[in-house]
Amino acid sequence: MIPRPLSLLVLGGTRFVGRTLVEAALAEGHQVTLFNRGRTAPELFPEVETVIGDRTTDLSALGGRRWDAVVDVAGYEPEVVRRSVTALGGRVGRYVFVSSLSVLADQATVQNEDGELLVLDGDLPPHQLYGARKAACERIVLGAYGERASIVRPGMIVGPHDPTDRFPYWPRRFRRGGRVLLPGNPADAAQFIDVRDVAAWILGCIAAQRGGVYNVTGRPLPFGEFFAACQALVNPGAEPVWVGTEKLLKAGVAPWMGVPMWIGAPECAAINRVDISRALAAGLTHRPLAETVADTLAWDTARGGPAVDDEGLTAAQEQRLLDELT
Ligand SMILES: NC(=O)c1ccc[n+]([C@@H]2O[C@H](COP(=O)([O-])OP(=O)(O)OC[C@H]3O[C@@H](n4cnc5c(N)ncnc54)[C@H](OP(=O)(O)O)[C@@H]3O)[C@@H](O)[C@H]2O)c1
Repeated sequence: MIPRPLSLLVLGGTRFVGRTLVEAALAEGHQVTLFNRGRTAPELFPEVETVIGDRTTDLSALGGRRWDAVVDVAGYEPEVVRRSVTALGGRVGRYVFVSSLSVLADQATVQNEDGELLVLDGDLPPHQLYGARKAACERIVLGAYGERASIVRPGMIVGPHDPTDRFPYWPRRFRRGGRVLLPGNPADAAQFIDVRDVAAWILGCIAAQRGGVYNVTGRPLPFGEFFAACQALVNPGAEPVWVGTEKLLKAGVAPWMGVPMWIGAPECAAINRVDISRALAAGLTHRPLAETVADTLAWDTARGGPAVDDEGLTAAQEQRLLDELT
């Protein structure tokens, strides 16, 4: 174990995962330095040192300093991550890279951390580019830091401050009541993790000096259980109406979130059943689903709903599908 409190450098730190990690680190008494451009929520952590810089071009403002660990929360481009790795070199004891389960080449069969990864080449379809880039970032971090690299592969991350409307849509939709369109089949698997559980696991991983690659997401649970929890907590009087995947696809609903959290693509049938046993053995814990639903709804209500209805289903779209398909 390295001594506590830890000194942590967070590349990013002010949007969702990074923001939650910083809150958790401060609550545990760690010393945190942020590195970002000062554009996203610059007022968030007035008590925390923020070094201003753009990681795509110049990290020299971090020169000469040392930290127990860096957490690279929001690295997407291999060359940008390589720049951070080169700039920090031996001045960090551990490089934690927040990757994604999207790195997996085969999403049709259940995978653990040893599954084949996407390779960045010119023939990839656009929807695999994100995962292939993340995989390339992982290779750079592992190549440079070896045992001192910790690769965190989350699945869908949910909870307060979620910038997508995938999860927040559901508690809000149940609260509105009436006939609620539910996609697929109650036995289909859902898999997601509360952002606060990701943050806690990362801090534990640094404290215990755990190197390696970890799938960090929730235990698979039937979609029916998730929706039942939303209904019970938010509005028992709402009327769930299941519409099967084939019907949705035939009606032109786009797979991958045409209905929030619904995958609907057979080639991704196992993305919600990923093996997390390695992270569980390394201390991963999950808060109760009811807590995530309640806290997300409270946050969503306080902000007045999503700024952009980007990944939600509008009430009009839902009504049209209910009229056509049920
Ligand atoms: N959401 C999911 O379901 C999910 C699933 C799997 C994996 N992930 C991964 O989780 C991570 C989520 O990241 P987040 O957005 O929540 O992280 P975050 O650290 O909370 O926010 C992003 C930070 O990056 C900073 N930033 C952006 N461009 C920058 C630049 N050029 N130079 C320096 N700083 C820059 C932003 O600040 P400024 O704008 O002020 O620079 C902001 O502080 C990503 O790696 C994503 O791939 C997410």
